[in-house]
Amino acid sequence: MKKFNLIFTISWALFNSLLIYGQNFYDSNPNIIELNSRTFDRVIHHTNYTTLVEFYAPWCGYCQKLKPILEKTAKQLNGIVQIAAINCDLDMNKQLCGQESIEGFPTLKVFRPPKINFNVKPEDRVDFKTHASEVYIGERKVSPMIDFMISRIKSYVKRVQNIKNLRNLICKKDKEQELKVVYFSKNEKVSSVFKTLAIDFLGKVKFYHITNGVFKGFENDEVEINKSMKTYPNITKFLLELEKDQKDKNNSKNNRLVFFKAQEDKYLEYSGENFNKIDIESFIMKEFNITPTEGPLSKKVSI
Ligand SMILES: *[C@@H]1O[C@H](CO)[C@@H](O)[C@H](O)[C@H]1NC(C)=O
Ligand SMILES: *[C@@H]1O[C@H](CO)[C@@H](O)[C@H](O)[C@H]1NC(C)=O
Ligand SMILES: *[C@@H]1O[C@H](CO)[C@@H](O)[C@H](O)[C@H]1NC(C)=O
Ligand SMILES: *[C@@H]1O[C@H](CO)[C@@H](O)[C@H](O)[C@H]1NC(C)=O
Repeated sequence: MKKFNLIFTISWALFNSLLIYGQNFYDSNPNIIELNSRTFDRVIHHTNYTTLVEFYAPWCGYCQKLKPILEKTAKQLNGIVQIAAINCDLDMNKQLCGQESIEGFPTLKVFRPPKINFNVKPEDRVDFKTHASEVYIGERKVSPMIDFMISRIKSYVKRVQNIKNLRNLICKKDKEQELKVVYFSKNEKVSSVFKTLAIDFLGKVKFYHITNGVFKGFENDEVEINKSMKTYPNITKFLLELEKDQKDKNNSKNNRLVFFKAQEDKYLEYSGENFNKIDIESFIMKEFNITPTEGPLSKKVSI
């Protein structure tokens, strides 16, 4: 009887420790995708998003220390980059962790998709297996990790500073990306929200950024204005108004988001109050009937 009790106690303790040590860290975290060898490829490679992956083992002390930090980071980066993790202690994942050359825990790796060249025919575009990966060796703290991840987002937002270039760009014929969006921003830096909007609508909508106040207008170039008026009267009138607006220091402090459909000589200014991702995406879906390929309002599910 005593012997049985002892064995029972030992195996009960073992069972419990297996429960604790064998458990995945992030199964119930909505902002972190807990990966395994079956889902890894699909989540990392079948996306135009950048992904941060933590390779961990539940028993490792440094991994336990990193857990709350990764959770905070993921919460703040929600919808901007993907955050994922993989438990390398599970048998089914061991081969994958080996292939990824994981030698210590935790290892943080960043996977970046290749940049798509829209000047090339779709069938000639780069293969999506060719993600670049790098090990994150910076500080394991929330704000350096966020800064690093933001610096690794592929930007499909083009900066413009000259009204003639802008006119040429928004009026350029483009079968794939007929709708163009221009963000007149009080900030010089392209915001990460705007960058991920461009990713969500990649191949469907083209995004431009203009920093208010540094914009070079038509400067009374009558030949240019008259030429422009002939083909795109509505858009040209709007751009002339905008030129005035940009020169007025008070007005140029405002953020504005304007959509252009040059083929129909039409434009529409975003009327929402908040320049957040969900509101802008909803606006695009409603006004232009274009659905995002990725992101929170798309049909794509992460796993
Ligand atoms: C990335 O975006 C391009 C352009 O829309 C699309 O063709 C491609 O399928 C996307 N890649 C993935 C893996 O979703
Ligand atoms: C431009 O158009 C205006 C109004 O139609 C006209 O008065 C002006 O002479 C034109 N300027 C040039 C340089 O063609
Ligand atoms: C711009 O703002 C300043 C300070 O708020 C104000 O005094 C000035 O009248 C404004 N100028 C214009 C053109 O509205
Ligand atoms: C030009 O703008 C006016 C006023 O916004 C609008 O009524 C008209 O339909 C537009 N023209 C075209 C060709 O879109």
